[in-house]
Amino acid sequence: MLKTQNQSICNPQQIKRIILFILYTYIIYLIISSISNTNEKLEKVSLSQSAGINDETDFDIIKHDEKVNLKYCGEKTCNFMFPYFIPEQETRANLHLRSLTFLAESLNRIMVLPNVGNSRIDCCTKFPFEFYYDLEKMKKMFPSIKFMTQQTFKEWTKELLIKPDTLHTWFIEDGRNDSYSIRDHNQMAVEPGVRYEKNLLSKLCINQFDLKISDYMEFHTGIGHVNDFEHKMFNFFTENLKDIKSPVILIRNRSRRQMFPLIEEQIPFAPHIMKQADEIINKLQSYYCIHWRMEQGILEKMPKCAENLIETINYLKMTEEINNVYLATDYPISGGKSASDTFYSVRKEHRIAIQMLNSTLNFNTWVSLNAFKEFRNDKKYDSEFSSSGIHGILDKLVCIQSDYFLSGPKDCCRIRSTYTRLISEERKDLIENGDNRIRNVITRWGKS
Ligand SMILES: *[C@@H]1O[C@H](CO)[C@@H](O)[C@H](O)[C@H]1NC(C)=O
Ligand SMILES: *[C@@H]1O[C@H](CO)[C@@H](O)[C@H](O)[C@H]1NC(C)=O
Ligand SMILES: *[C@@H]1O[C@H](CO)[C@@H](O)[C@H](O)[C@H]1NC(C)=O
Ligand SMILES: [Mg+2]
Repeated sequence: MLKTQNQSICNPQQIKRIILFILYTYIIYLIISSISNTNEKLEKVSLSQSAGINDETDFDIIKHDEKVNLKYCGEKTCNFMFPYFIPEQETRANLHLRSLTFLAESLNRIMVLPNVGNSRIDCCTKFPFEFYYDLEKMKKMFPSIKFMTQQTFKEWTKELLIKPDTLHTWFIEDGRNDSYSIRDHNQMAVEPGVRYEKNLLSKLCINQFDLKISDYMEFHTGIGHVNDFEHKMFNFFTENLKDIKSPVILIRNRSRRQMFPLIEEQIPFAPHIMKQADEIINKLQSYYCIHWRMEQGILEKMPKCAENLIETINYLKMTEEINNVYLATDYPISGGKSASDTFYSVRKEHRIAIQMLNSTLNFNTWVSLNAFKEFRNDKKYDSEFSSSGIHGILDKLVCIQSDYFLSGPKDCCRIRSTYTRLISEERKDLIENGDNRIRNVITRWGKS
């Protein structure tokens, strides 16, 4: 053994070749490893900076998050737009939410649908979007847009190991003379926004999601009239947001002004609401729907308004031969607060008016018909039925389908209401489409 080794090593030609070979190999090894090293170092530096994690596991973490994204978005990266606060009550919020789908489309982002409750669309409320709306039908209505509910989005933020970088945007309507007037702009504008403190994030309920909010932007409508405002505003948003790399864009809307082009068709309501409405409609036919939103009526006139309403109904009973009455009102018929969370004080005059109707008309309401009994027997829904809520949607559907629709005249109620206008528009469509059960669009009952 020793002998043979000695023999080969002692050959000077061979030694030279071996040394050269080793040298070459070493040099090549050095070159290769230095290239891959710089790559690795670059990645590791940025990763551990952003996540503060151990080098060894970086690769696993990225792989993990890619898998999470694939599971939720069908792609290795997810891009969301989350309008987490929509202003106003259901009928108007429905309208705002559907015009926002334009933005989701132009930004090519998945639109996150907030929770609902007490007639609001807002991430602070406690029921999933599908408590009010039919998500499957909504997807068919907007086939080019992907939707995700707040719950699913929340799970996504929880499962990620590296929390998603987030841009917070705030849409502000200038010139409202409210507490934000100090920020008013004369023209459409975008500027860096103030950073939100912990308690504000918690008040807005955004802290329930695991987000890394790194940037704040404020969009301003500008004061005053601009021709073709909706399209200009929409383009302005798109231009300013389309290159944003953050996976999440949060949108807080404080603007009541129509910012985006209108979409006529409503977001369709949940099957359990439609079913409940059908039951009532079939049971009452033929019936009047009386829509009496007392909130902004003149208090002293309430009893007189009730008297006039009774007269009108008694007259119609002779001419129309319809006997059943369904009353849709913001008066707290279920004994709780009023059906509008801005209708603060129910007074003696309101009570007298309702008692007058109750003693002469024998009216039906969602309460007397025991609507949504499965929800109302469940404590979880107490808050929903104690003021405005899902029954407001039911009232709307029952009034749209009523044989005869009556609403209050000036002084008895709020006249300019989107809710009332929507009911009459839907009835007009039904009549135009040949539904001859519907006898009128809207009639204001007799004035004093
Ligand atoms: C806002 O308030 C100021 C002063 O209080 C008043 O002069 C101005 O007309 C108001 N603007 C609007 C749009 O109401
Ligand atoms: C905000 O609400 C207004 C109407 O009140 C609506 O036109 C606008 O599209 C909404 N914008 C966003 C971003 O929610
Ligand atoms: C109407 O009267 C009946 C009994 O007379 C009562 O049970 C019901 O609560 C009244 N409805 C309203 C809305 O006051
Ligand atoms: Mg109100």
